[in-house]
Amino acid sequence: LPWTGHDLGFPTLYASAGFSLIALVSTMNLVPLLGPTFVERNLKGRDRLKRNQLEMCLISPLLFLFSAPESMGLICASIYALLLTLFIPFLFTDILRPQENPGALGSPLLSVAREQFPHQQLSVYLSALLCLLSATILGFLDDVFDIRWRYKLPIPLIASIPLLLVYHAEHGNTHIVLPKFIRNVFGHSVVDLGPLYYLYMSLLSTFCTNSINILAGINGIEASQALIIALSIALNDLLYLPLQFSLDFYGFTFGGVYRAGMALGSRELVERHLLSLYFMLPLIGVCIGFLRHNWYPARAFPGDTFCYFAGMAFAVVGIIGHFSKTLLLFFIPQIFNFLLSCPQLFGLVPCPRHRMPRLGPSNSPFIYPSTVDFEHPPRLHTRLILSFLSLLGFTRLTRHPKTKTILSATNLTLLNTVLVVRGPMSEERLTLECMALQVAGSMIAFGIRYGLAGIFYDG
Ligand code: UD1
Ligand code: MG
Repeated sequence: LPWTGHDLGFPTLYASAGFSLIALVSTMNLVPLLGPTFVERNLKGRDRLKRNQLEMCLISPLLFLFSAPESMGLICASIYALLLTLFIPFLFTDILRPQENPGALGSPLLSVAREQFPHQQLSVYLSALLCLLSATILGFLDDVFDIRWRYKLPIPLIASIPLLLVYHAEHGNTHIVLPKFIRNVFGHSVVDLGPLYYLYMSLLSTFCTNSINILAGINGIEASQALIIALSIALNDLLYLPLQFSLDFYGFTFGGVYRAGMALGSRELVERHLLSLYFMLPLIGVCIGFLRHNWYPARAFPGDTFCYFAGMAFAVVGIIGHFSKTLLLFFIPQIFNFLLSCPQLFGLVPCPRHRMPRLGPSNSPFIYPSTVDFEHPPRLHTRLILSFLSLLGFTRLTRHPKTKTILSATNLTLLNTVLVVRGPMSEERLTLECMALQVAGSMIAFGIRYGLAGIFYDG
């Protein structure tokens, strides 16, 4: 099979690591190079959390008139998709396998016997690439045309169809294992969700793309959350590989073979996680390269293109790697942000166009939670929701001193909640605190996946 590491030396994995390095260097260089062209074509955005033109020009002369190039995710996505395409020969031919009889078959590219060609695996790979490209197009169209929610929500659902078909062809699992304490109620331990499981996986693609896009608005937040999720997925994949290591410590050599994947007994499992790594490593490179320009003070904005393509990359590996439930565990901050946002997304509480935090008084270096203001007293259901969320500490309400009606509430996002709980802080610090939350989320995810699973499930 194509994505095994031949002889467990994983030459393809090393090639992928090399591609990741190319991704990093190309993104780092192309973003500042092509940024001005984007601004020229009016693909630019105003940094809403910077105070004045002088401040911006000190940051970079590129930022004339407060604007930074927007939709830079297009460059990231293009580099990523190009590299994944260039990687195909490394995966599906013997290009990396030492030639026993060099010259006999001509170029190594031709050395794949036609009857042995792994069509099935190639279709998995190509359908994943198709999904990524659809997400990139959708993101870019959203950047240019600001598509309405009701139109853009179903597109990732449709884009995931080829992938779901491939999952079906691979006899993908549609079962969920019930925790021990629920088994007594249902009488059996495994439930086959059938078509519902496919619905869940296609919803996953919509969730992953949009959840990154709505946890946005401060410098570096989109790229850093994508980076931490990609690193967590890659780390989880590494746990399944039979890795060899040796460590030199003051002349003593410790060595061994770490065989977690093999211990779990399945070569298929190792291959799935290898494939997931091939998708994650270049993404990590792209995110680091982009963060170099998107970090506070940002000289480039990711736009919806970045959020959509990165989100889709996660959904894709979750589906083709058959670990969609573990994947969701790495989205704990995004799930919280989505659930908290629901009242605003579904119109129960008014939703302004931008919900990102706001600048404070002119002498303050900090940013503050942004608010939704009520000209008229809010309706009963809005009052109930906001009072409940304020009781939990997720939003802060301002009430009329006499009548006690709600005058304003901080917008329902994770960023504003962090500011409500921890107090005003600088934009850079808020990004760092959110990154810490994302890392903590991943640690909890690993704890649940590998620690707590034993309490709820057998073996
Ligand atoms: C989503 C959020 C919106 C948030 C916005 C920020 C929902 C429903 N929508 O909208 O609340 O305000 O993302 O991206 O939650 N910008 C900055 N600094 C940054 C990044 C972006 O000021 O570090 C501003 C720029 O003006 C940029 C704009 O945000 O042009 C991009 O907004 P856009 O991605 O179009 O917003 P949405 O994704 O629609
Ligand atoms: Mg956006």
